[in-house]
Amino acid sequence: PSVVILISGRGSNLNALIDHAKQTGAYQIRAVISNRPAAAGLALAQSAGLDTAILDHTEYESREAFDEALASLIDQYQPDWVVLAGFMRVLTEGFVNRYLGRLVNIHPSLLPAFPGLKTHQQALDAGVRVHGVTVHLVTPELDHGPILDQALLQVLPGDTPETLAARVLELEHQIYPRALAALAGGQIKMVNGKLEGTLAT
Ligand code: GRF
Repeated sequence: PSVVILISGRGSNLNALIDHAKQTGAYQIRAVISNRPAAAGLALAQSAGLDTAILDHTEYESREAFDEALASLIDQYQPDWVVLAGFMRVLTEGFVNRYLGRLVNIHPSLLPAFPGLKTHQQALDAGVRVHGVTVHLVTPELDHGPILDQALLQVLPGDTPETLAARVLELEHQIYPRALAALAGGQIKMVNGKLEGTLAT
């Protein structure tokens, strides 16, 4: 099974996905695409010998035009899965529907709590005692698709958005490669709009 990974920045999840692919061969990374030319993750991908591409969203007139160009680029690689790893752009419904069931995202909260941005601040403001991360399939409603896996941690006295982000990020790196491998290997699949199967523990 093959994947194309979309990034916008640092690329630490990308790095975890690259490592897992190298170690297990569970999926093949065909390309890494960034919407930001300066994304640090591009260098990580290149040093792993992967194909990279930049599609700068500021050069497109509309969200639709950018998403059209992005889809054409992705389709050149014919991936089974499209994987969002810190890709910080909301995708149009047309784009999402084109890859429905094949588009995966990681979100730094325990969905359905705290969709959108600033999830760690949202968690602190809400006073929750547990927080975490979700890997899910993408549907047109932002951060609402079927959940593949989650991991959680305790919110500690004195936690700040930064300390929470750092601990959640460690969990992200653990669960994202595992969830993607389970999808790629067919252990989890969509049947009649619902996910079936379980992750190996
Ligand atoms: C991660 O926290 C991810 O969940 C969020 O953006 C961050 C990306 O980090 N959507 P990185 O680029 O993978 O290091």
